[in-house]
Amino acid sequence: MTFTEELATFCKKKGFMYPSSEIYGGLAGFYDYGHLGTRLKHNFENIWRKYFLSLNDNFHEIETANIMPRDVFKASGHLEKFADPVVNCSACGFKERADHFVERFLKKRVEGLTSEELTKEINKNKLFCPTCKSELEPVRSFNMMFPVQLGVAHKIYPKSVPALLTKSEEEQKNIAYLRPETAQSPYVNFKLQYELLRKRMPLGLALIGRAYRNEISPRNVTLRLREFIQAELQIFFNEAKINDHPLFEMVKEYKLRTVLIEDRERTKTVERTAQSLVQKGLPKYYVYHLVKIQQFYLEILKIPSEKFRFYQLNELERAFYNKYHFDFEVELQEHSFTEVGGLHYRTDHDLEGHQRVSQESMEVLDEETGKKFVPHVLELSFGVDRNVYALLDVNYENNKERGNIILHLPSGLTPFFCGIFPLVKNKPEIAAKAEEIYNDLKQQFSCLYDEAGSVGRRYARADEIGVEYEITIDFASLEDNSVTIRDRETTKQVRVKITQLSGLLQKLFAGKGFEDLGEKII
Ligand code: GAP
Repeated sequence: MTFTEELATFCKKKGFMYPSSEIYGGLAGFYDYGHLGTRLKHNFENIWRKYFLSLNDNFHEIETANIMPRDVFKASGHLEKFADPVVNCSACGFKERADHFVERFLKKRVEGLTSEELTKEINKNKLFCPTCKSELEPVRSFNMMFPVQLGVAHKIYPKSVPALLTKSEEEQKNIAYLRPETAQSPYVNFKLQYELLRKRMPLGLALIGRAYRNEISPRNVTLRLREFIQAELQIFFNEAKINDHPLFEMVKEYKLRTVLIEDRERTKTVERTAQSLVQKGLPKYYVYHLVKIQQFYLEILKIPSEKFRFYQLNELERAFYNKYHFDFEVELQEHSFTEVGGLHYRTDHDLEGHQRVSQESMEVLDEETGKKFVPHVLELSFGVDRNVYALLDVNYENNKERGNIILHLPSGLTPFFCGIFPLVKNKPEIAAKAEEIYNDLKQQFSCLYDEAGSVGRRYARADEIGVEYEITIDFASLEDNSVTIRDRETTKQVRVKITQLSGLLQKLFAGKGFEDLGEKII
């Protein structure tokens, strides 16, 4: 069994995530989150909100519709350009995204090559269908948006409906699209929100929501889905101020883990200060946000630094709307460094497009100069499902010594921070005390109550789903009003008074260890 299969089995068995509609055989590219996965996903989303919305007091969250009119994607360029190259077998129906197919066989990155260039690579390297060995058809381009028909289809309209539009015009009017990125929603909301929020710049509009792409080859659990969740922050700002950020001085010596285009040959991560990236020509406003993103991964999500990097994309690879584009990547056990998000400088590409197509002005006034301008956009884009998968992958350990799996998820992320275990089930006084503690603690922390099986089994079960501290109420608790707290990471324990329990857990939640509590470690 591969590691990905092992993790996928674990995720299903424990209730993190599993293929959707499985009783009907499932549907490729669609996943559901179970009771633990939903907690983990919500924790990630809440931490993301708290962190990124607090970067500026003019950053706000909105929630919007997932289906949008055709013109939105005409303006954004998705109708024309949001396409992937696909390679087809001439005989057996095999299909794969052509750049992934070529990368799989030639072991080199070819993202961004045109369909013609990919066809040439396939022919030059004599690649055939991996399933039936037949010849492959020339690579073609495939638009990944999902159209949806709104309302009743044209052809069943009664004849009496006045024929103001041609049939194809009418049908086009009824076609809308499931958004392929959440970003377009803040763009179409921009002007109204700007006015509602007292016309201040920069303005940040964050959105956590679903996006839909008709991926050619969905795969690897939730890493490539057809319906997925993005957490994106769109920062609208004055282009004239791109070479500054009021807080840049505070982060200029911070070391960023980067693979620049110039490092490609070595494919080694190089630590560079924020200041040195500015000297290489990147704007301060952009680099400041690289720092904030890296700090989010290392300090909040606790991803080990060696498993995190920024990967700079070249002209061919970056998305059609981007001027600067760094992906941020986490190293996974089987998939090496994997994109979990991107920092995109989208210029005025989107707002200009919406101004042109909607005929609504997107201009705002610069109060200092009295000049009008269309704001530029810096986009911080995160795939929620990929991040949740990465958190599980990085924190999953099959610990041979303890004989069970341990999920090393940090406090704010793990589905349950603490577990309450009455030592024995059949002693009502112990159960009553345990319930009292549980009812009290669950007001402040995510708590699990477990009274089934031996305490050893309960510890193992708790380790497997990431419970960070287990609290056991035993016979002595009835005498001395104390309980033991066990640390998932070390299995060490401390004995503490029940009256102090909540305060001590708060310290542990804030990142302190047993050694900071002043209690004897047993
Ligand atoms: N608004 C910009 C945008 O959508 P993107 O690089 O296409 O940029 C952003 O997507 C993030 O969304 C990716 O870094 C990834 O984490 C996630 N994502 C994209 N396609 C995905 C898919 N098919 N399945 C799961 N996550 C996906």
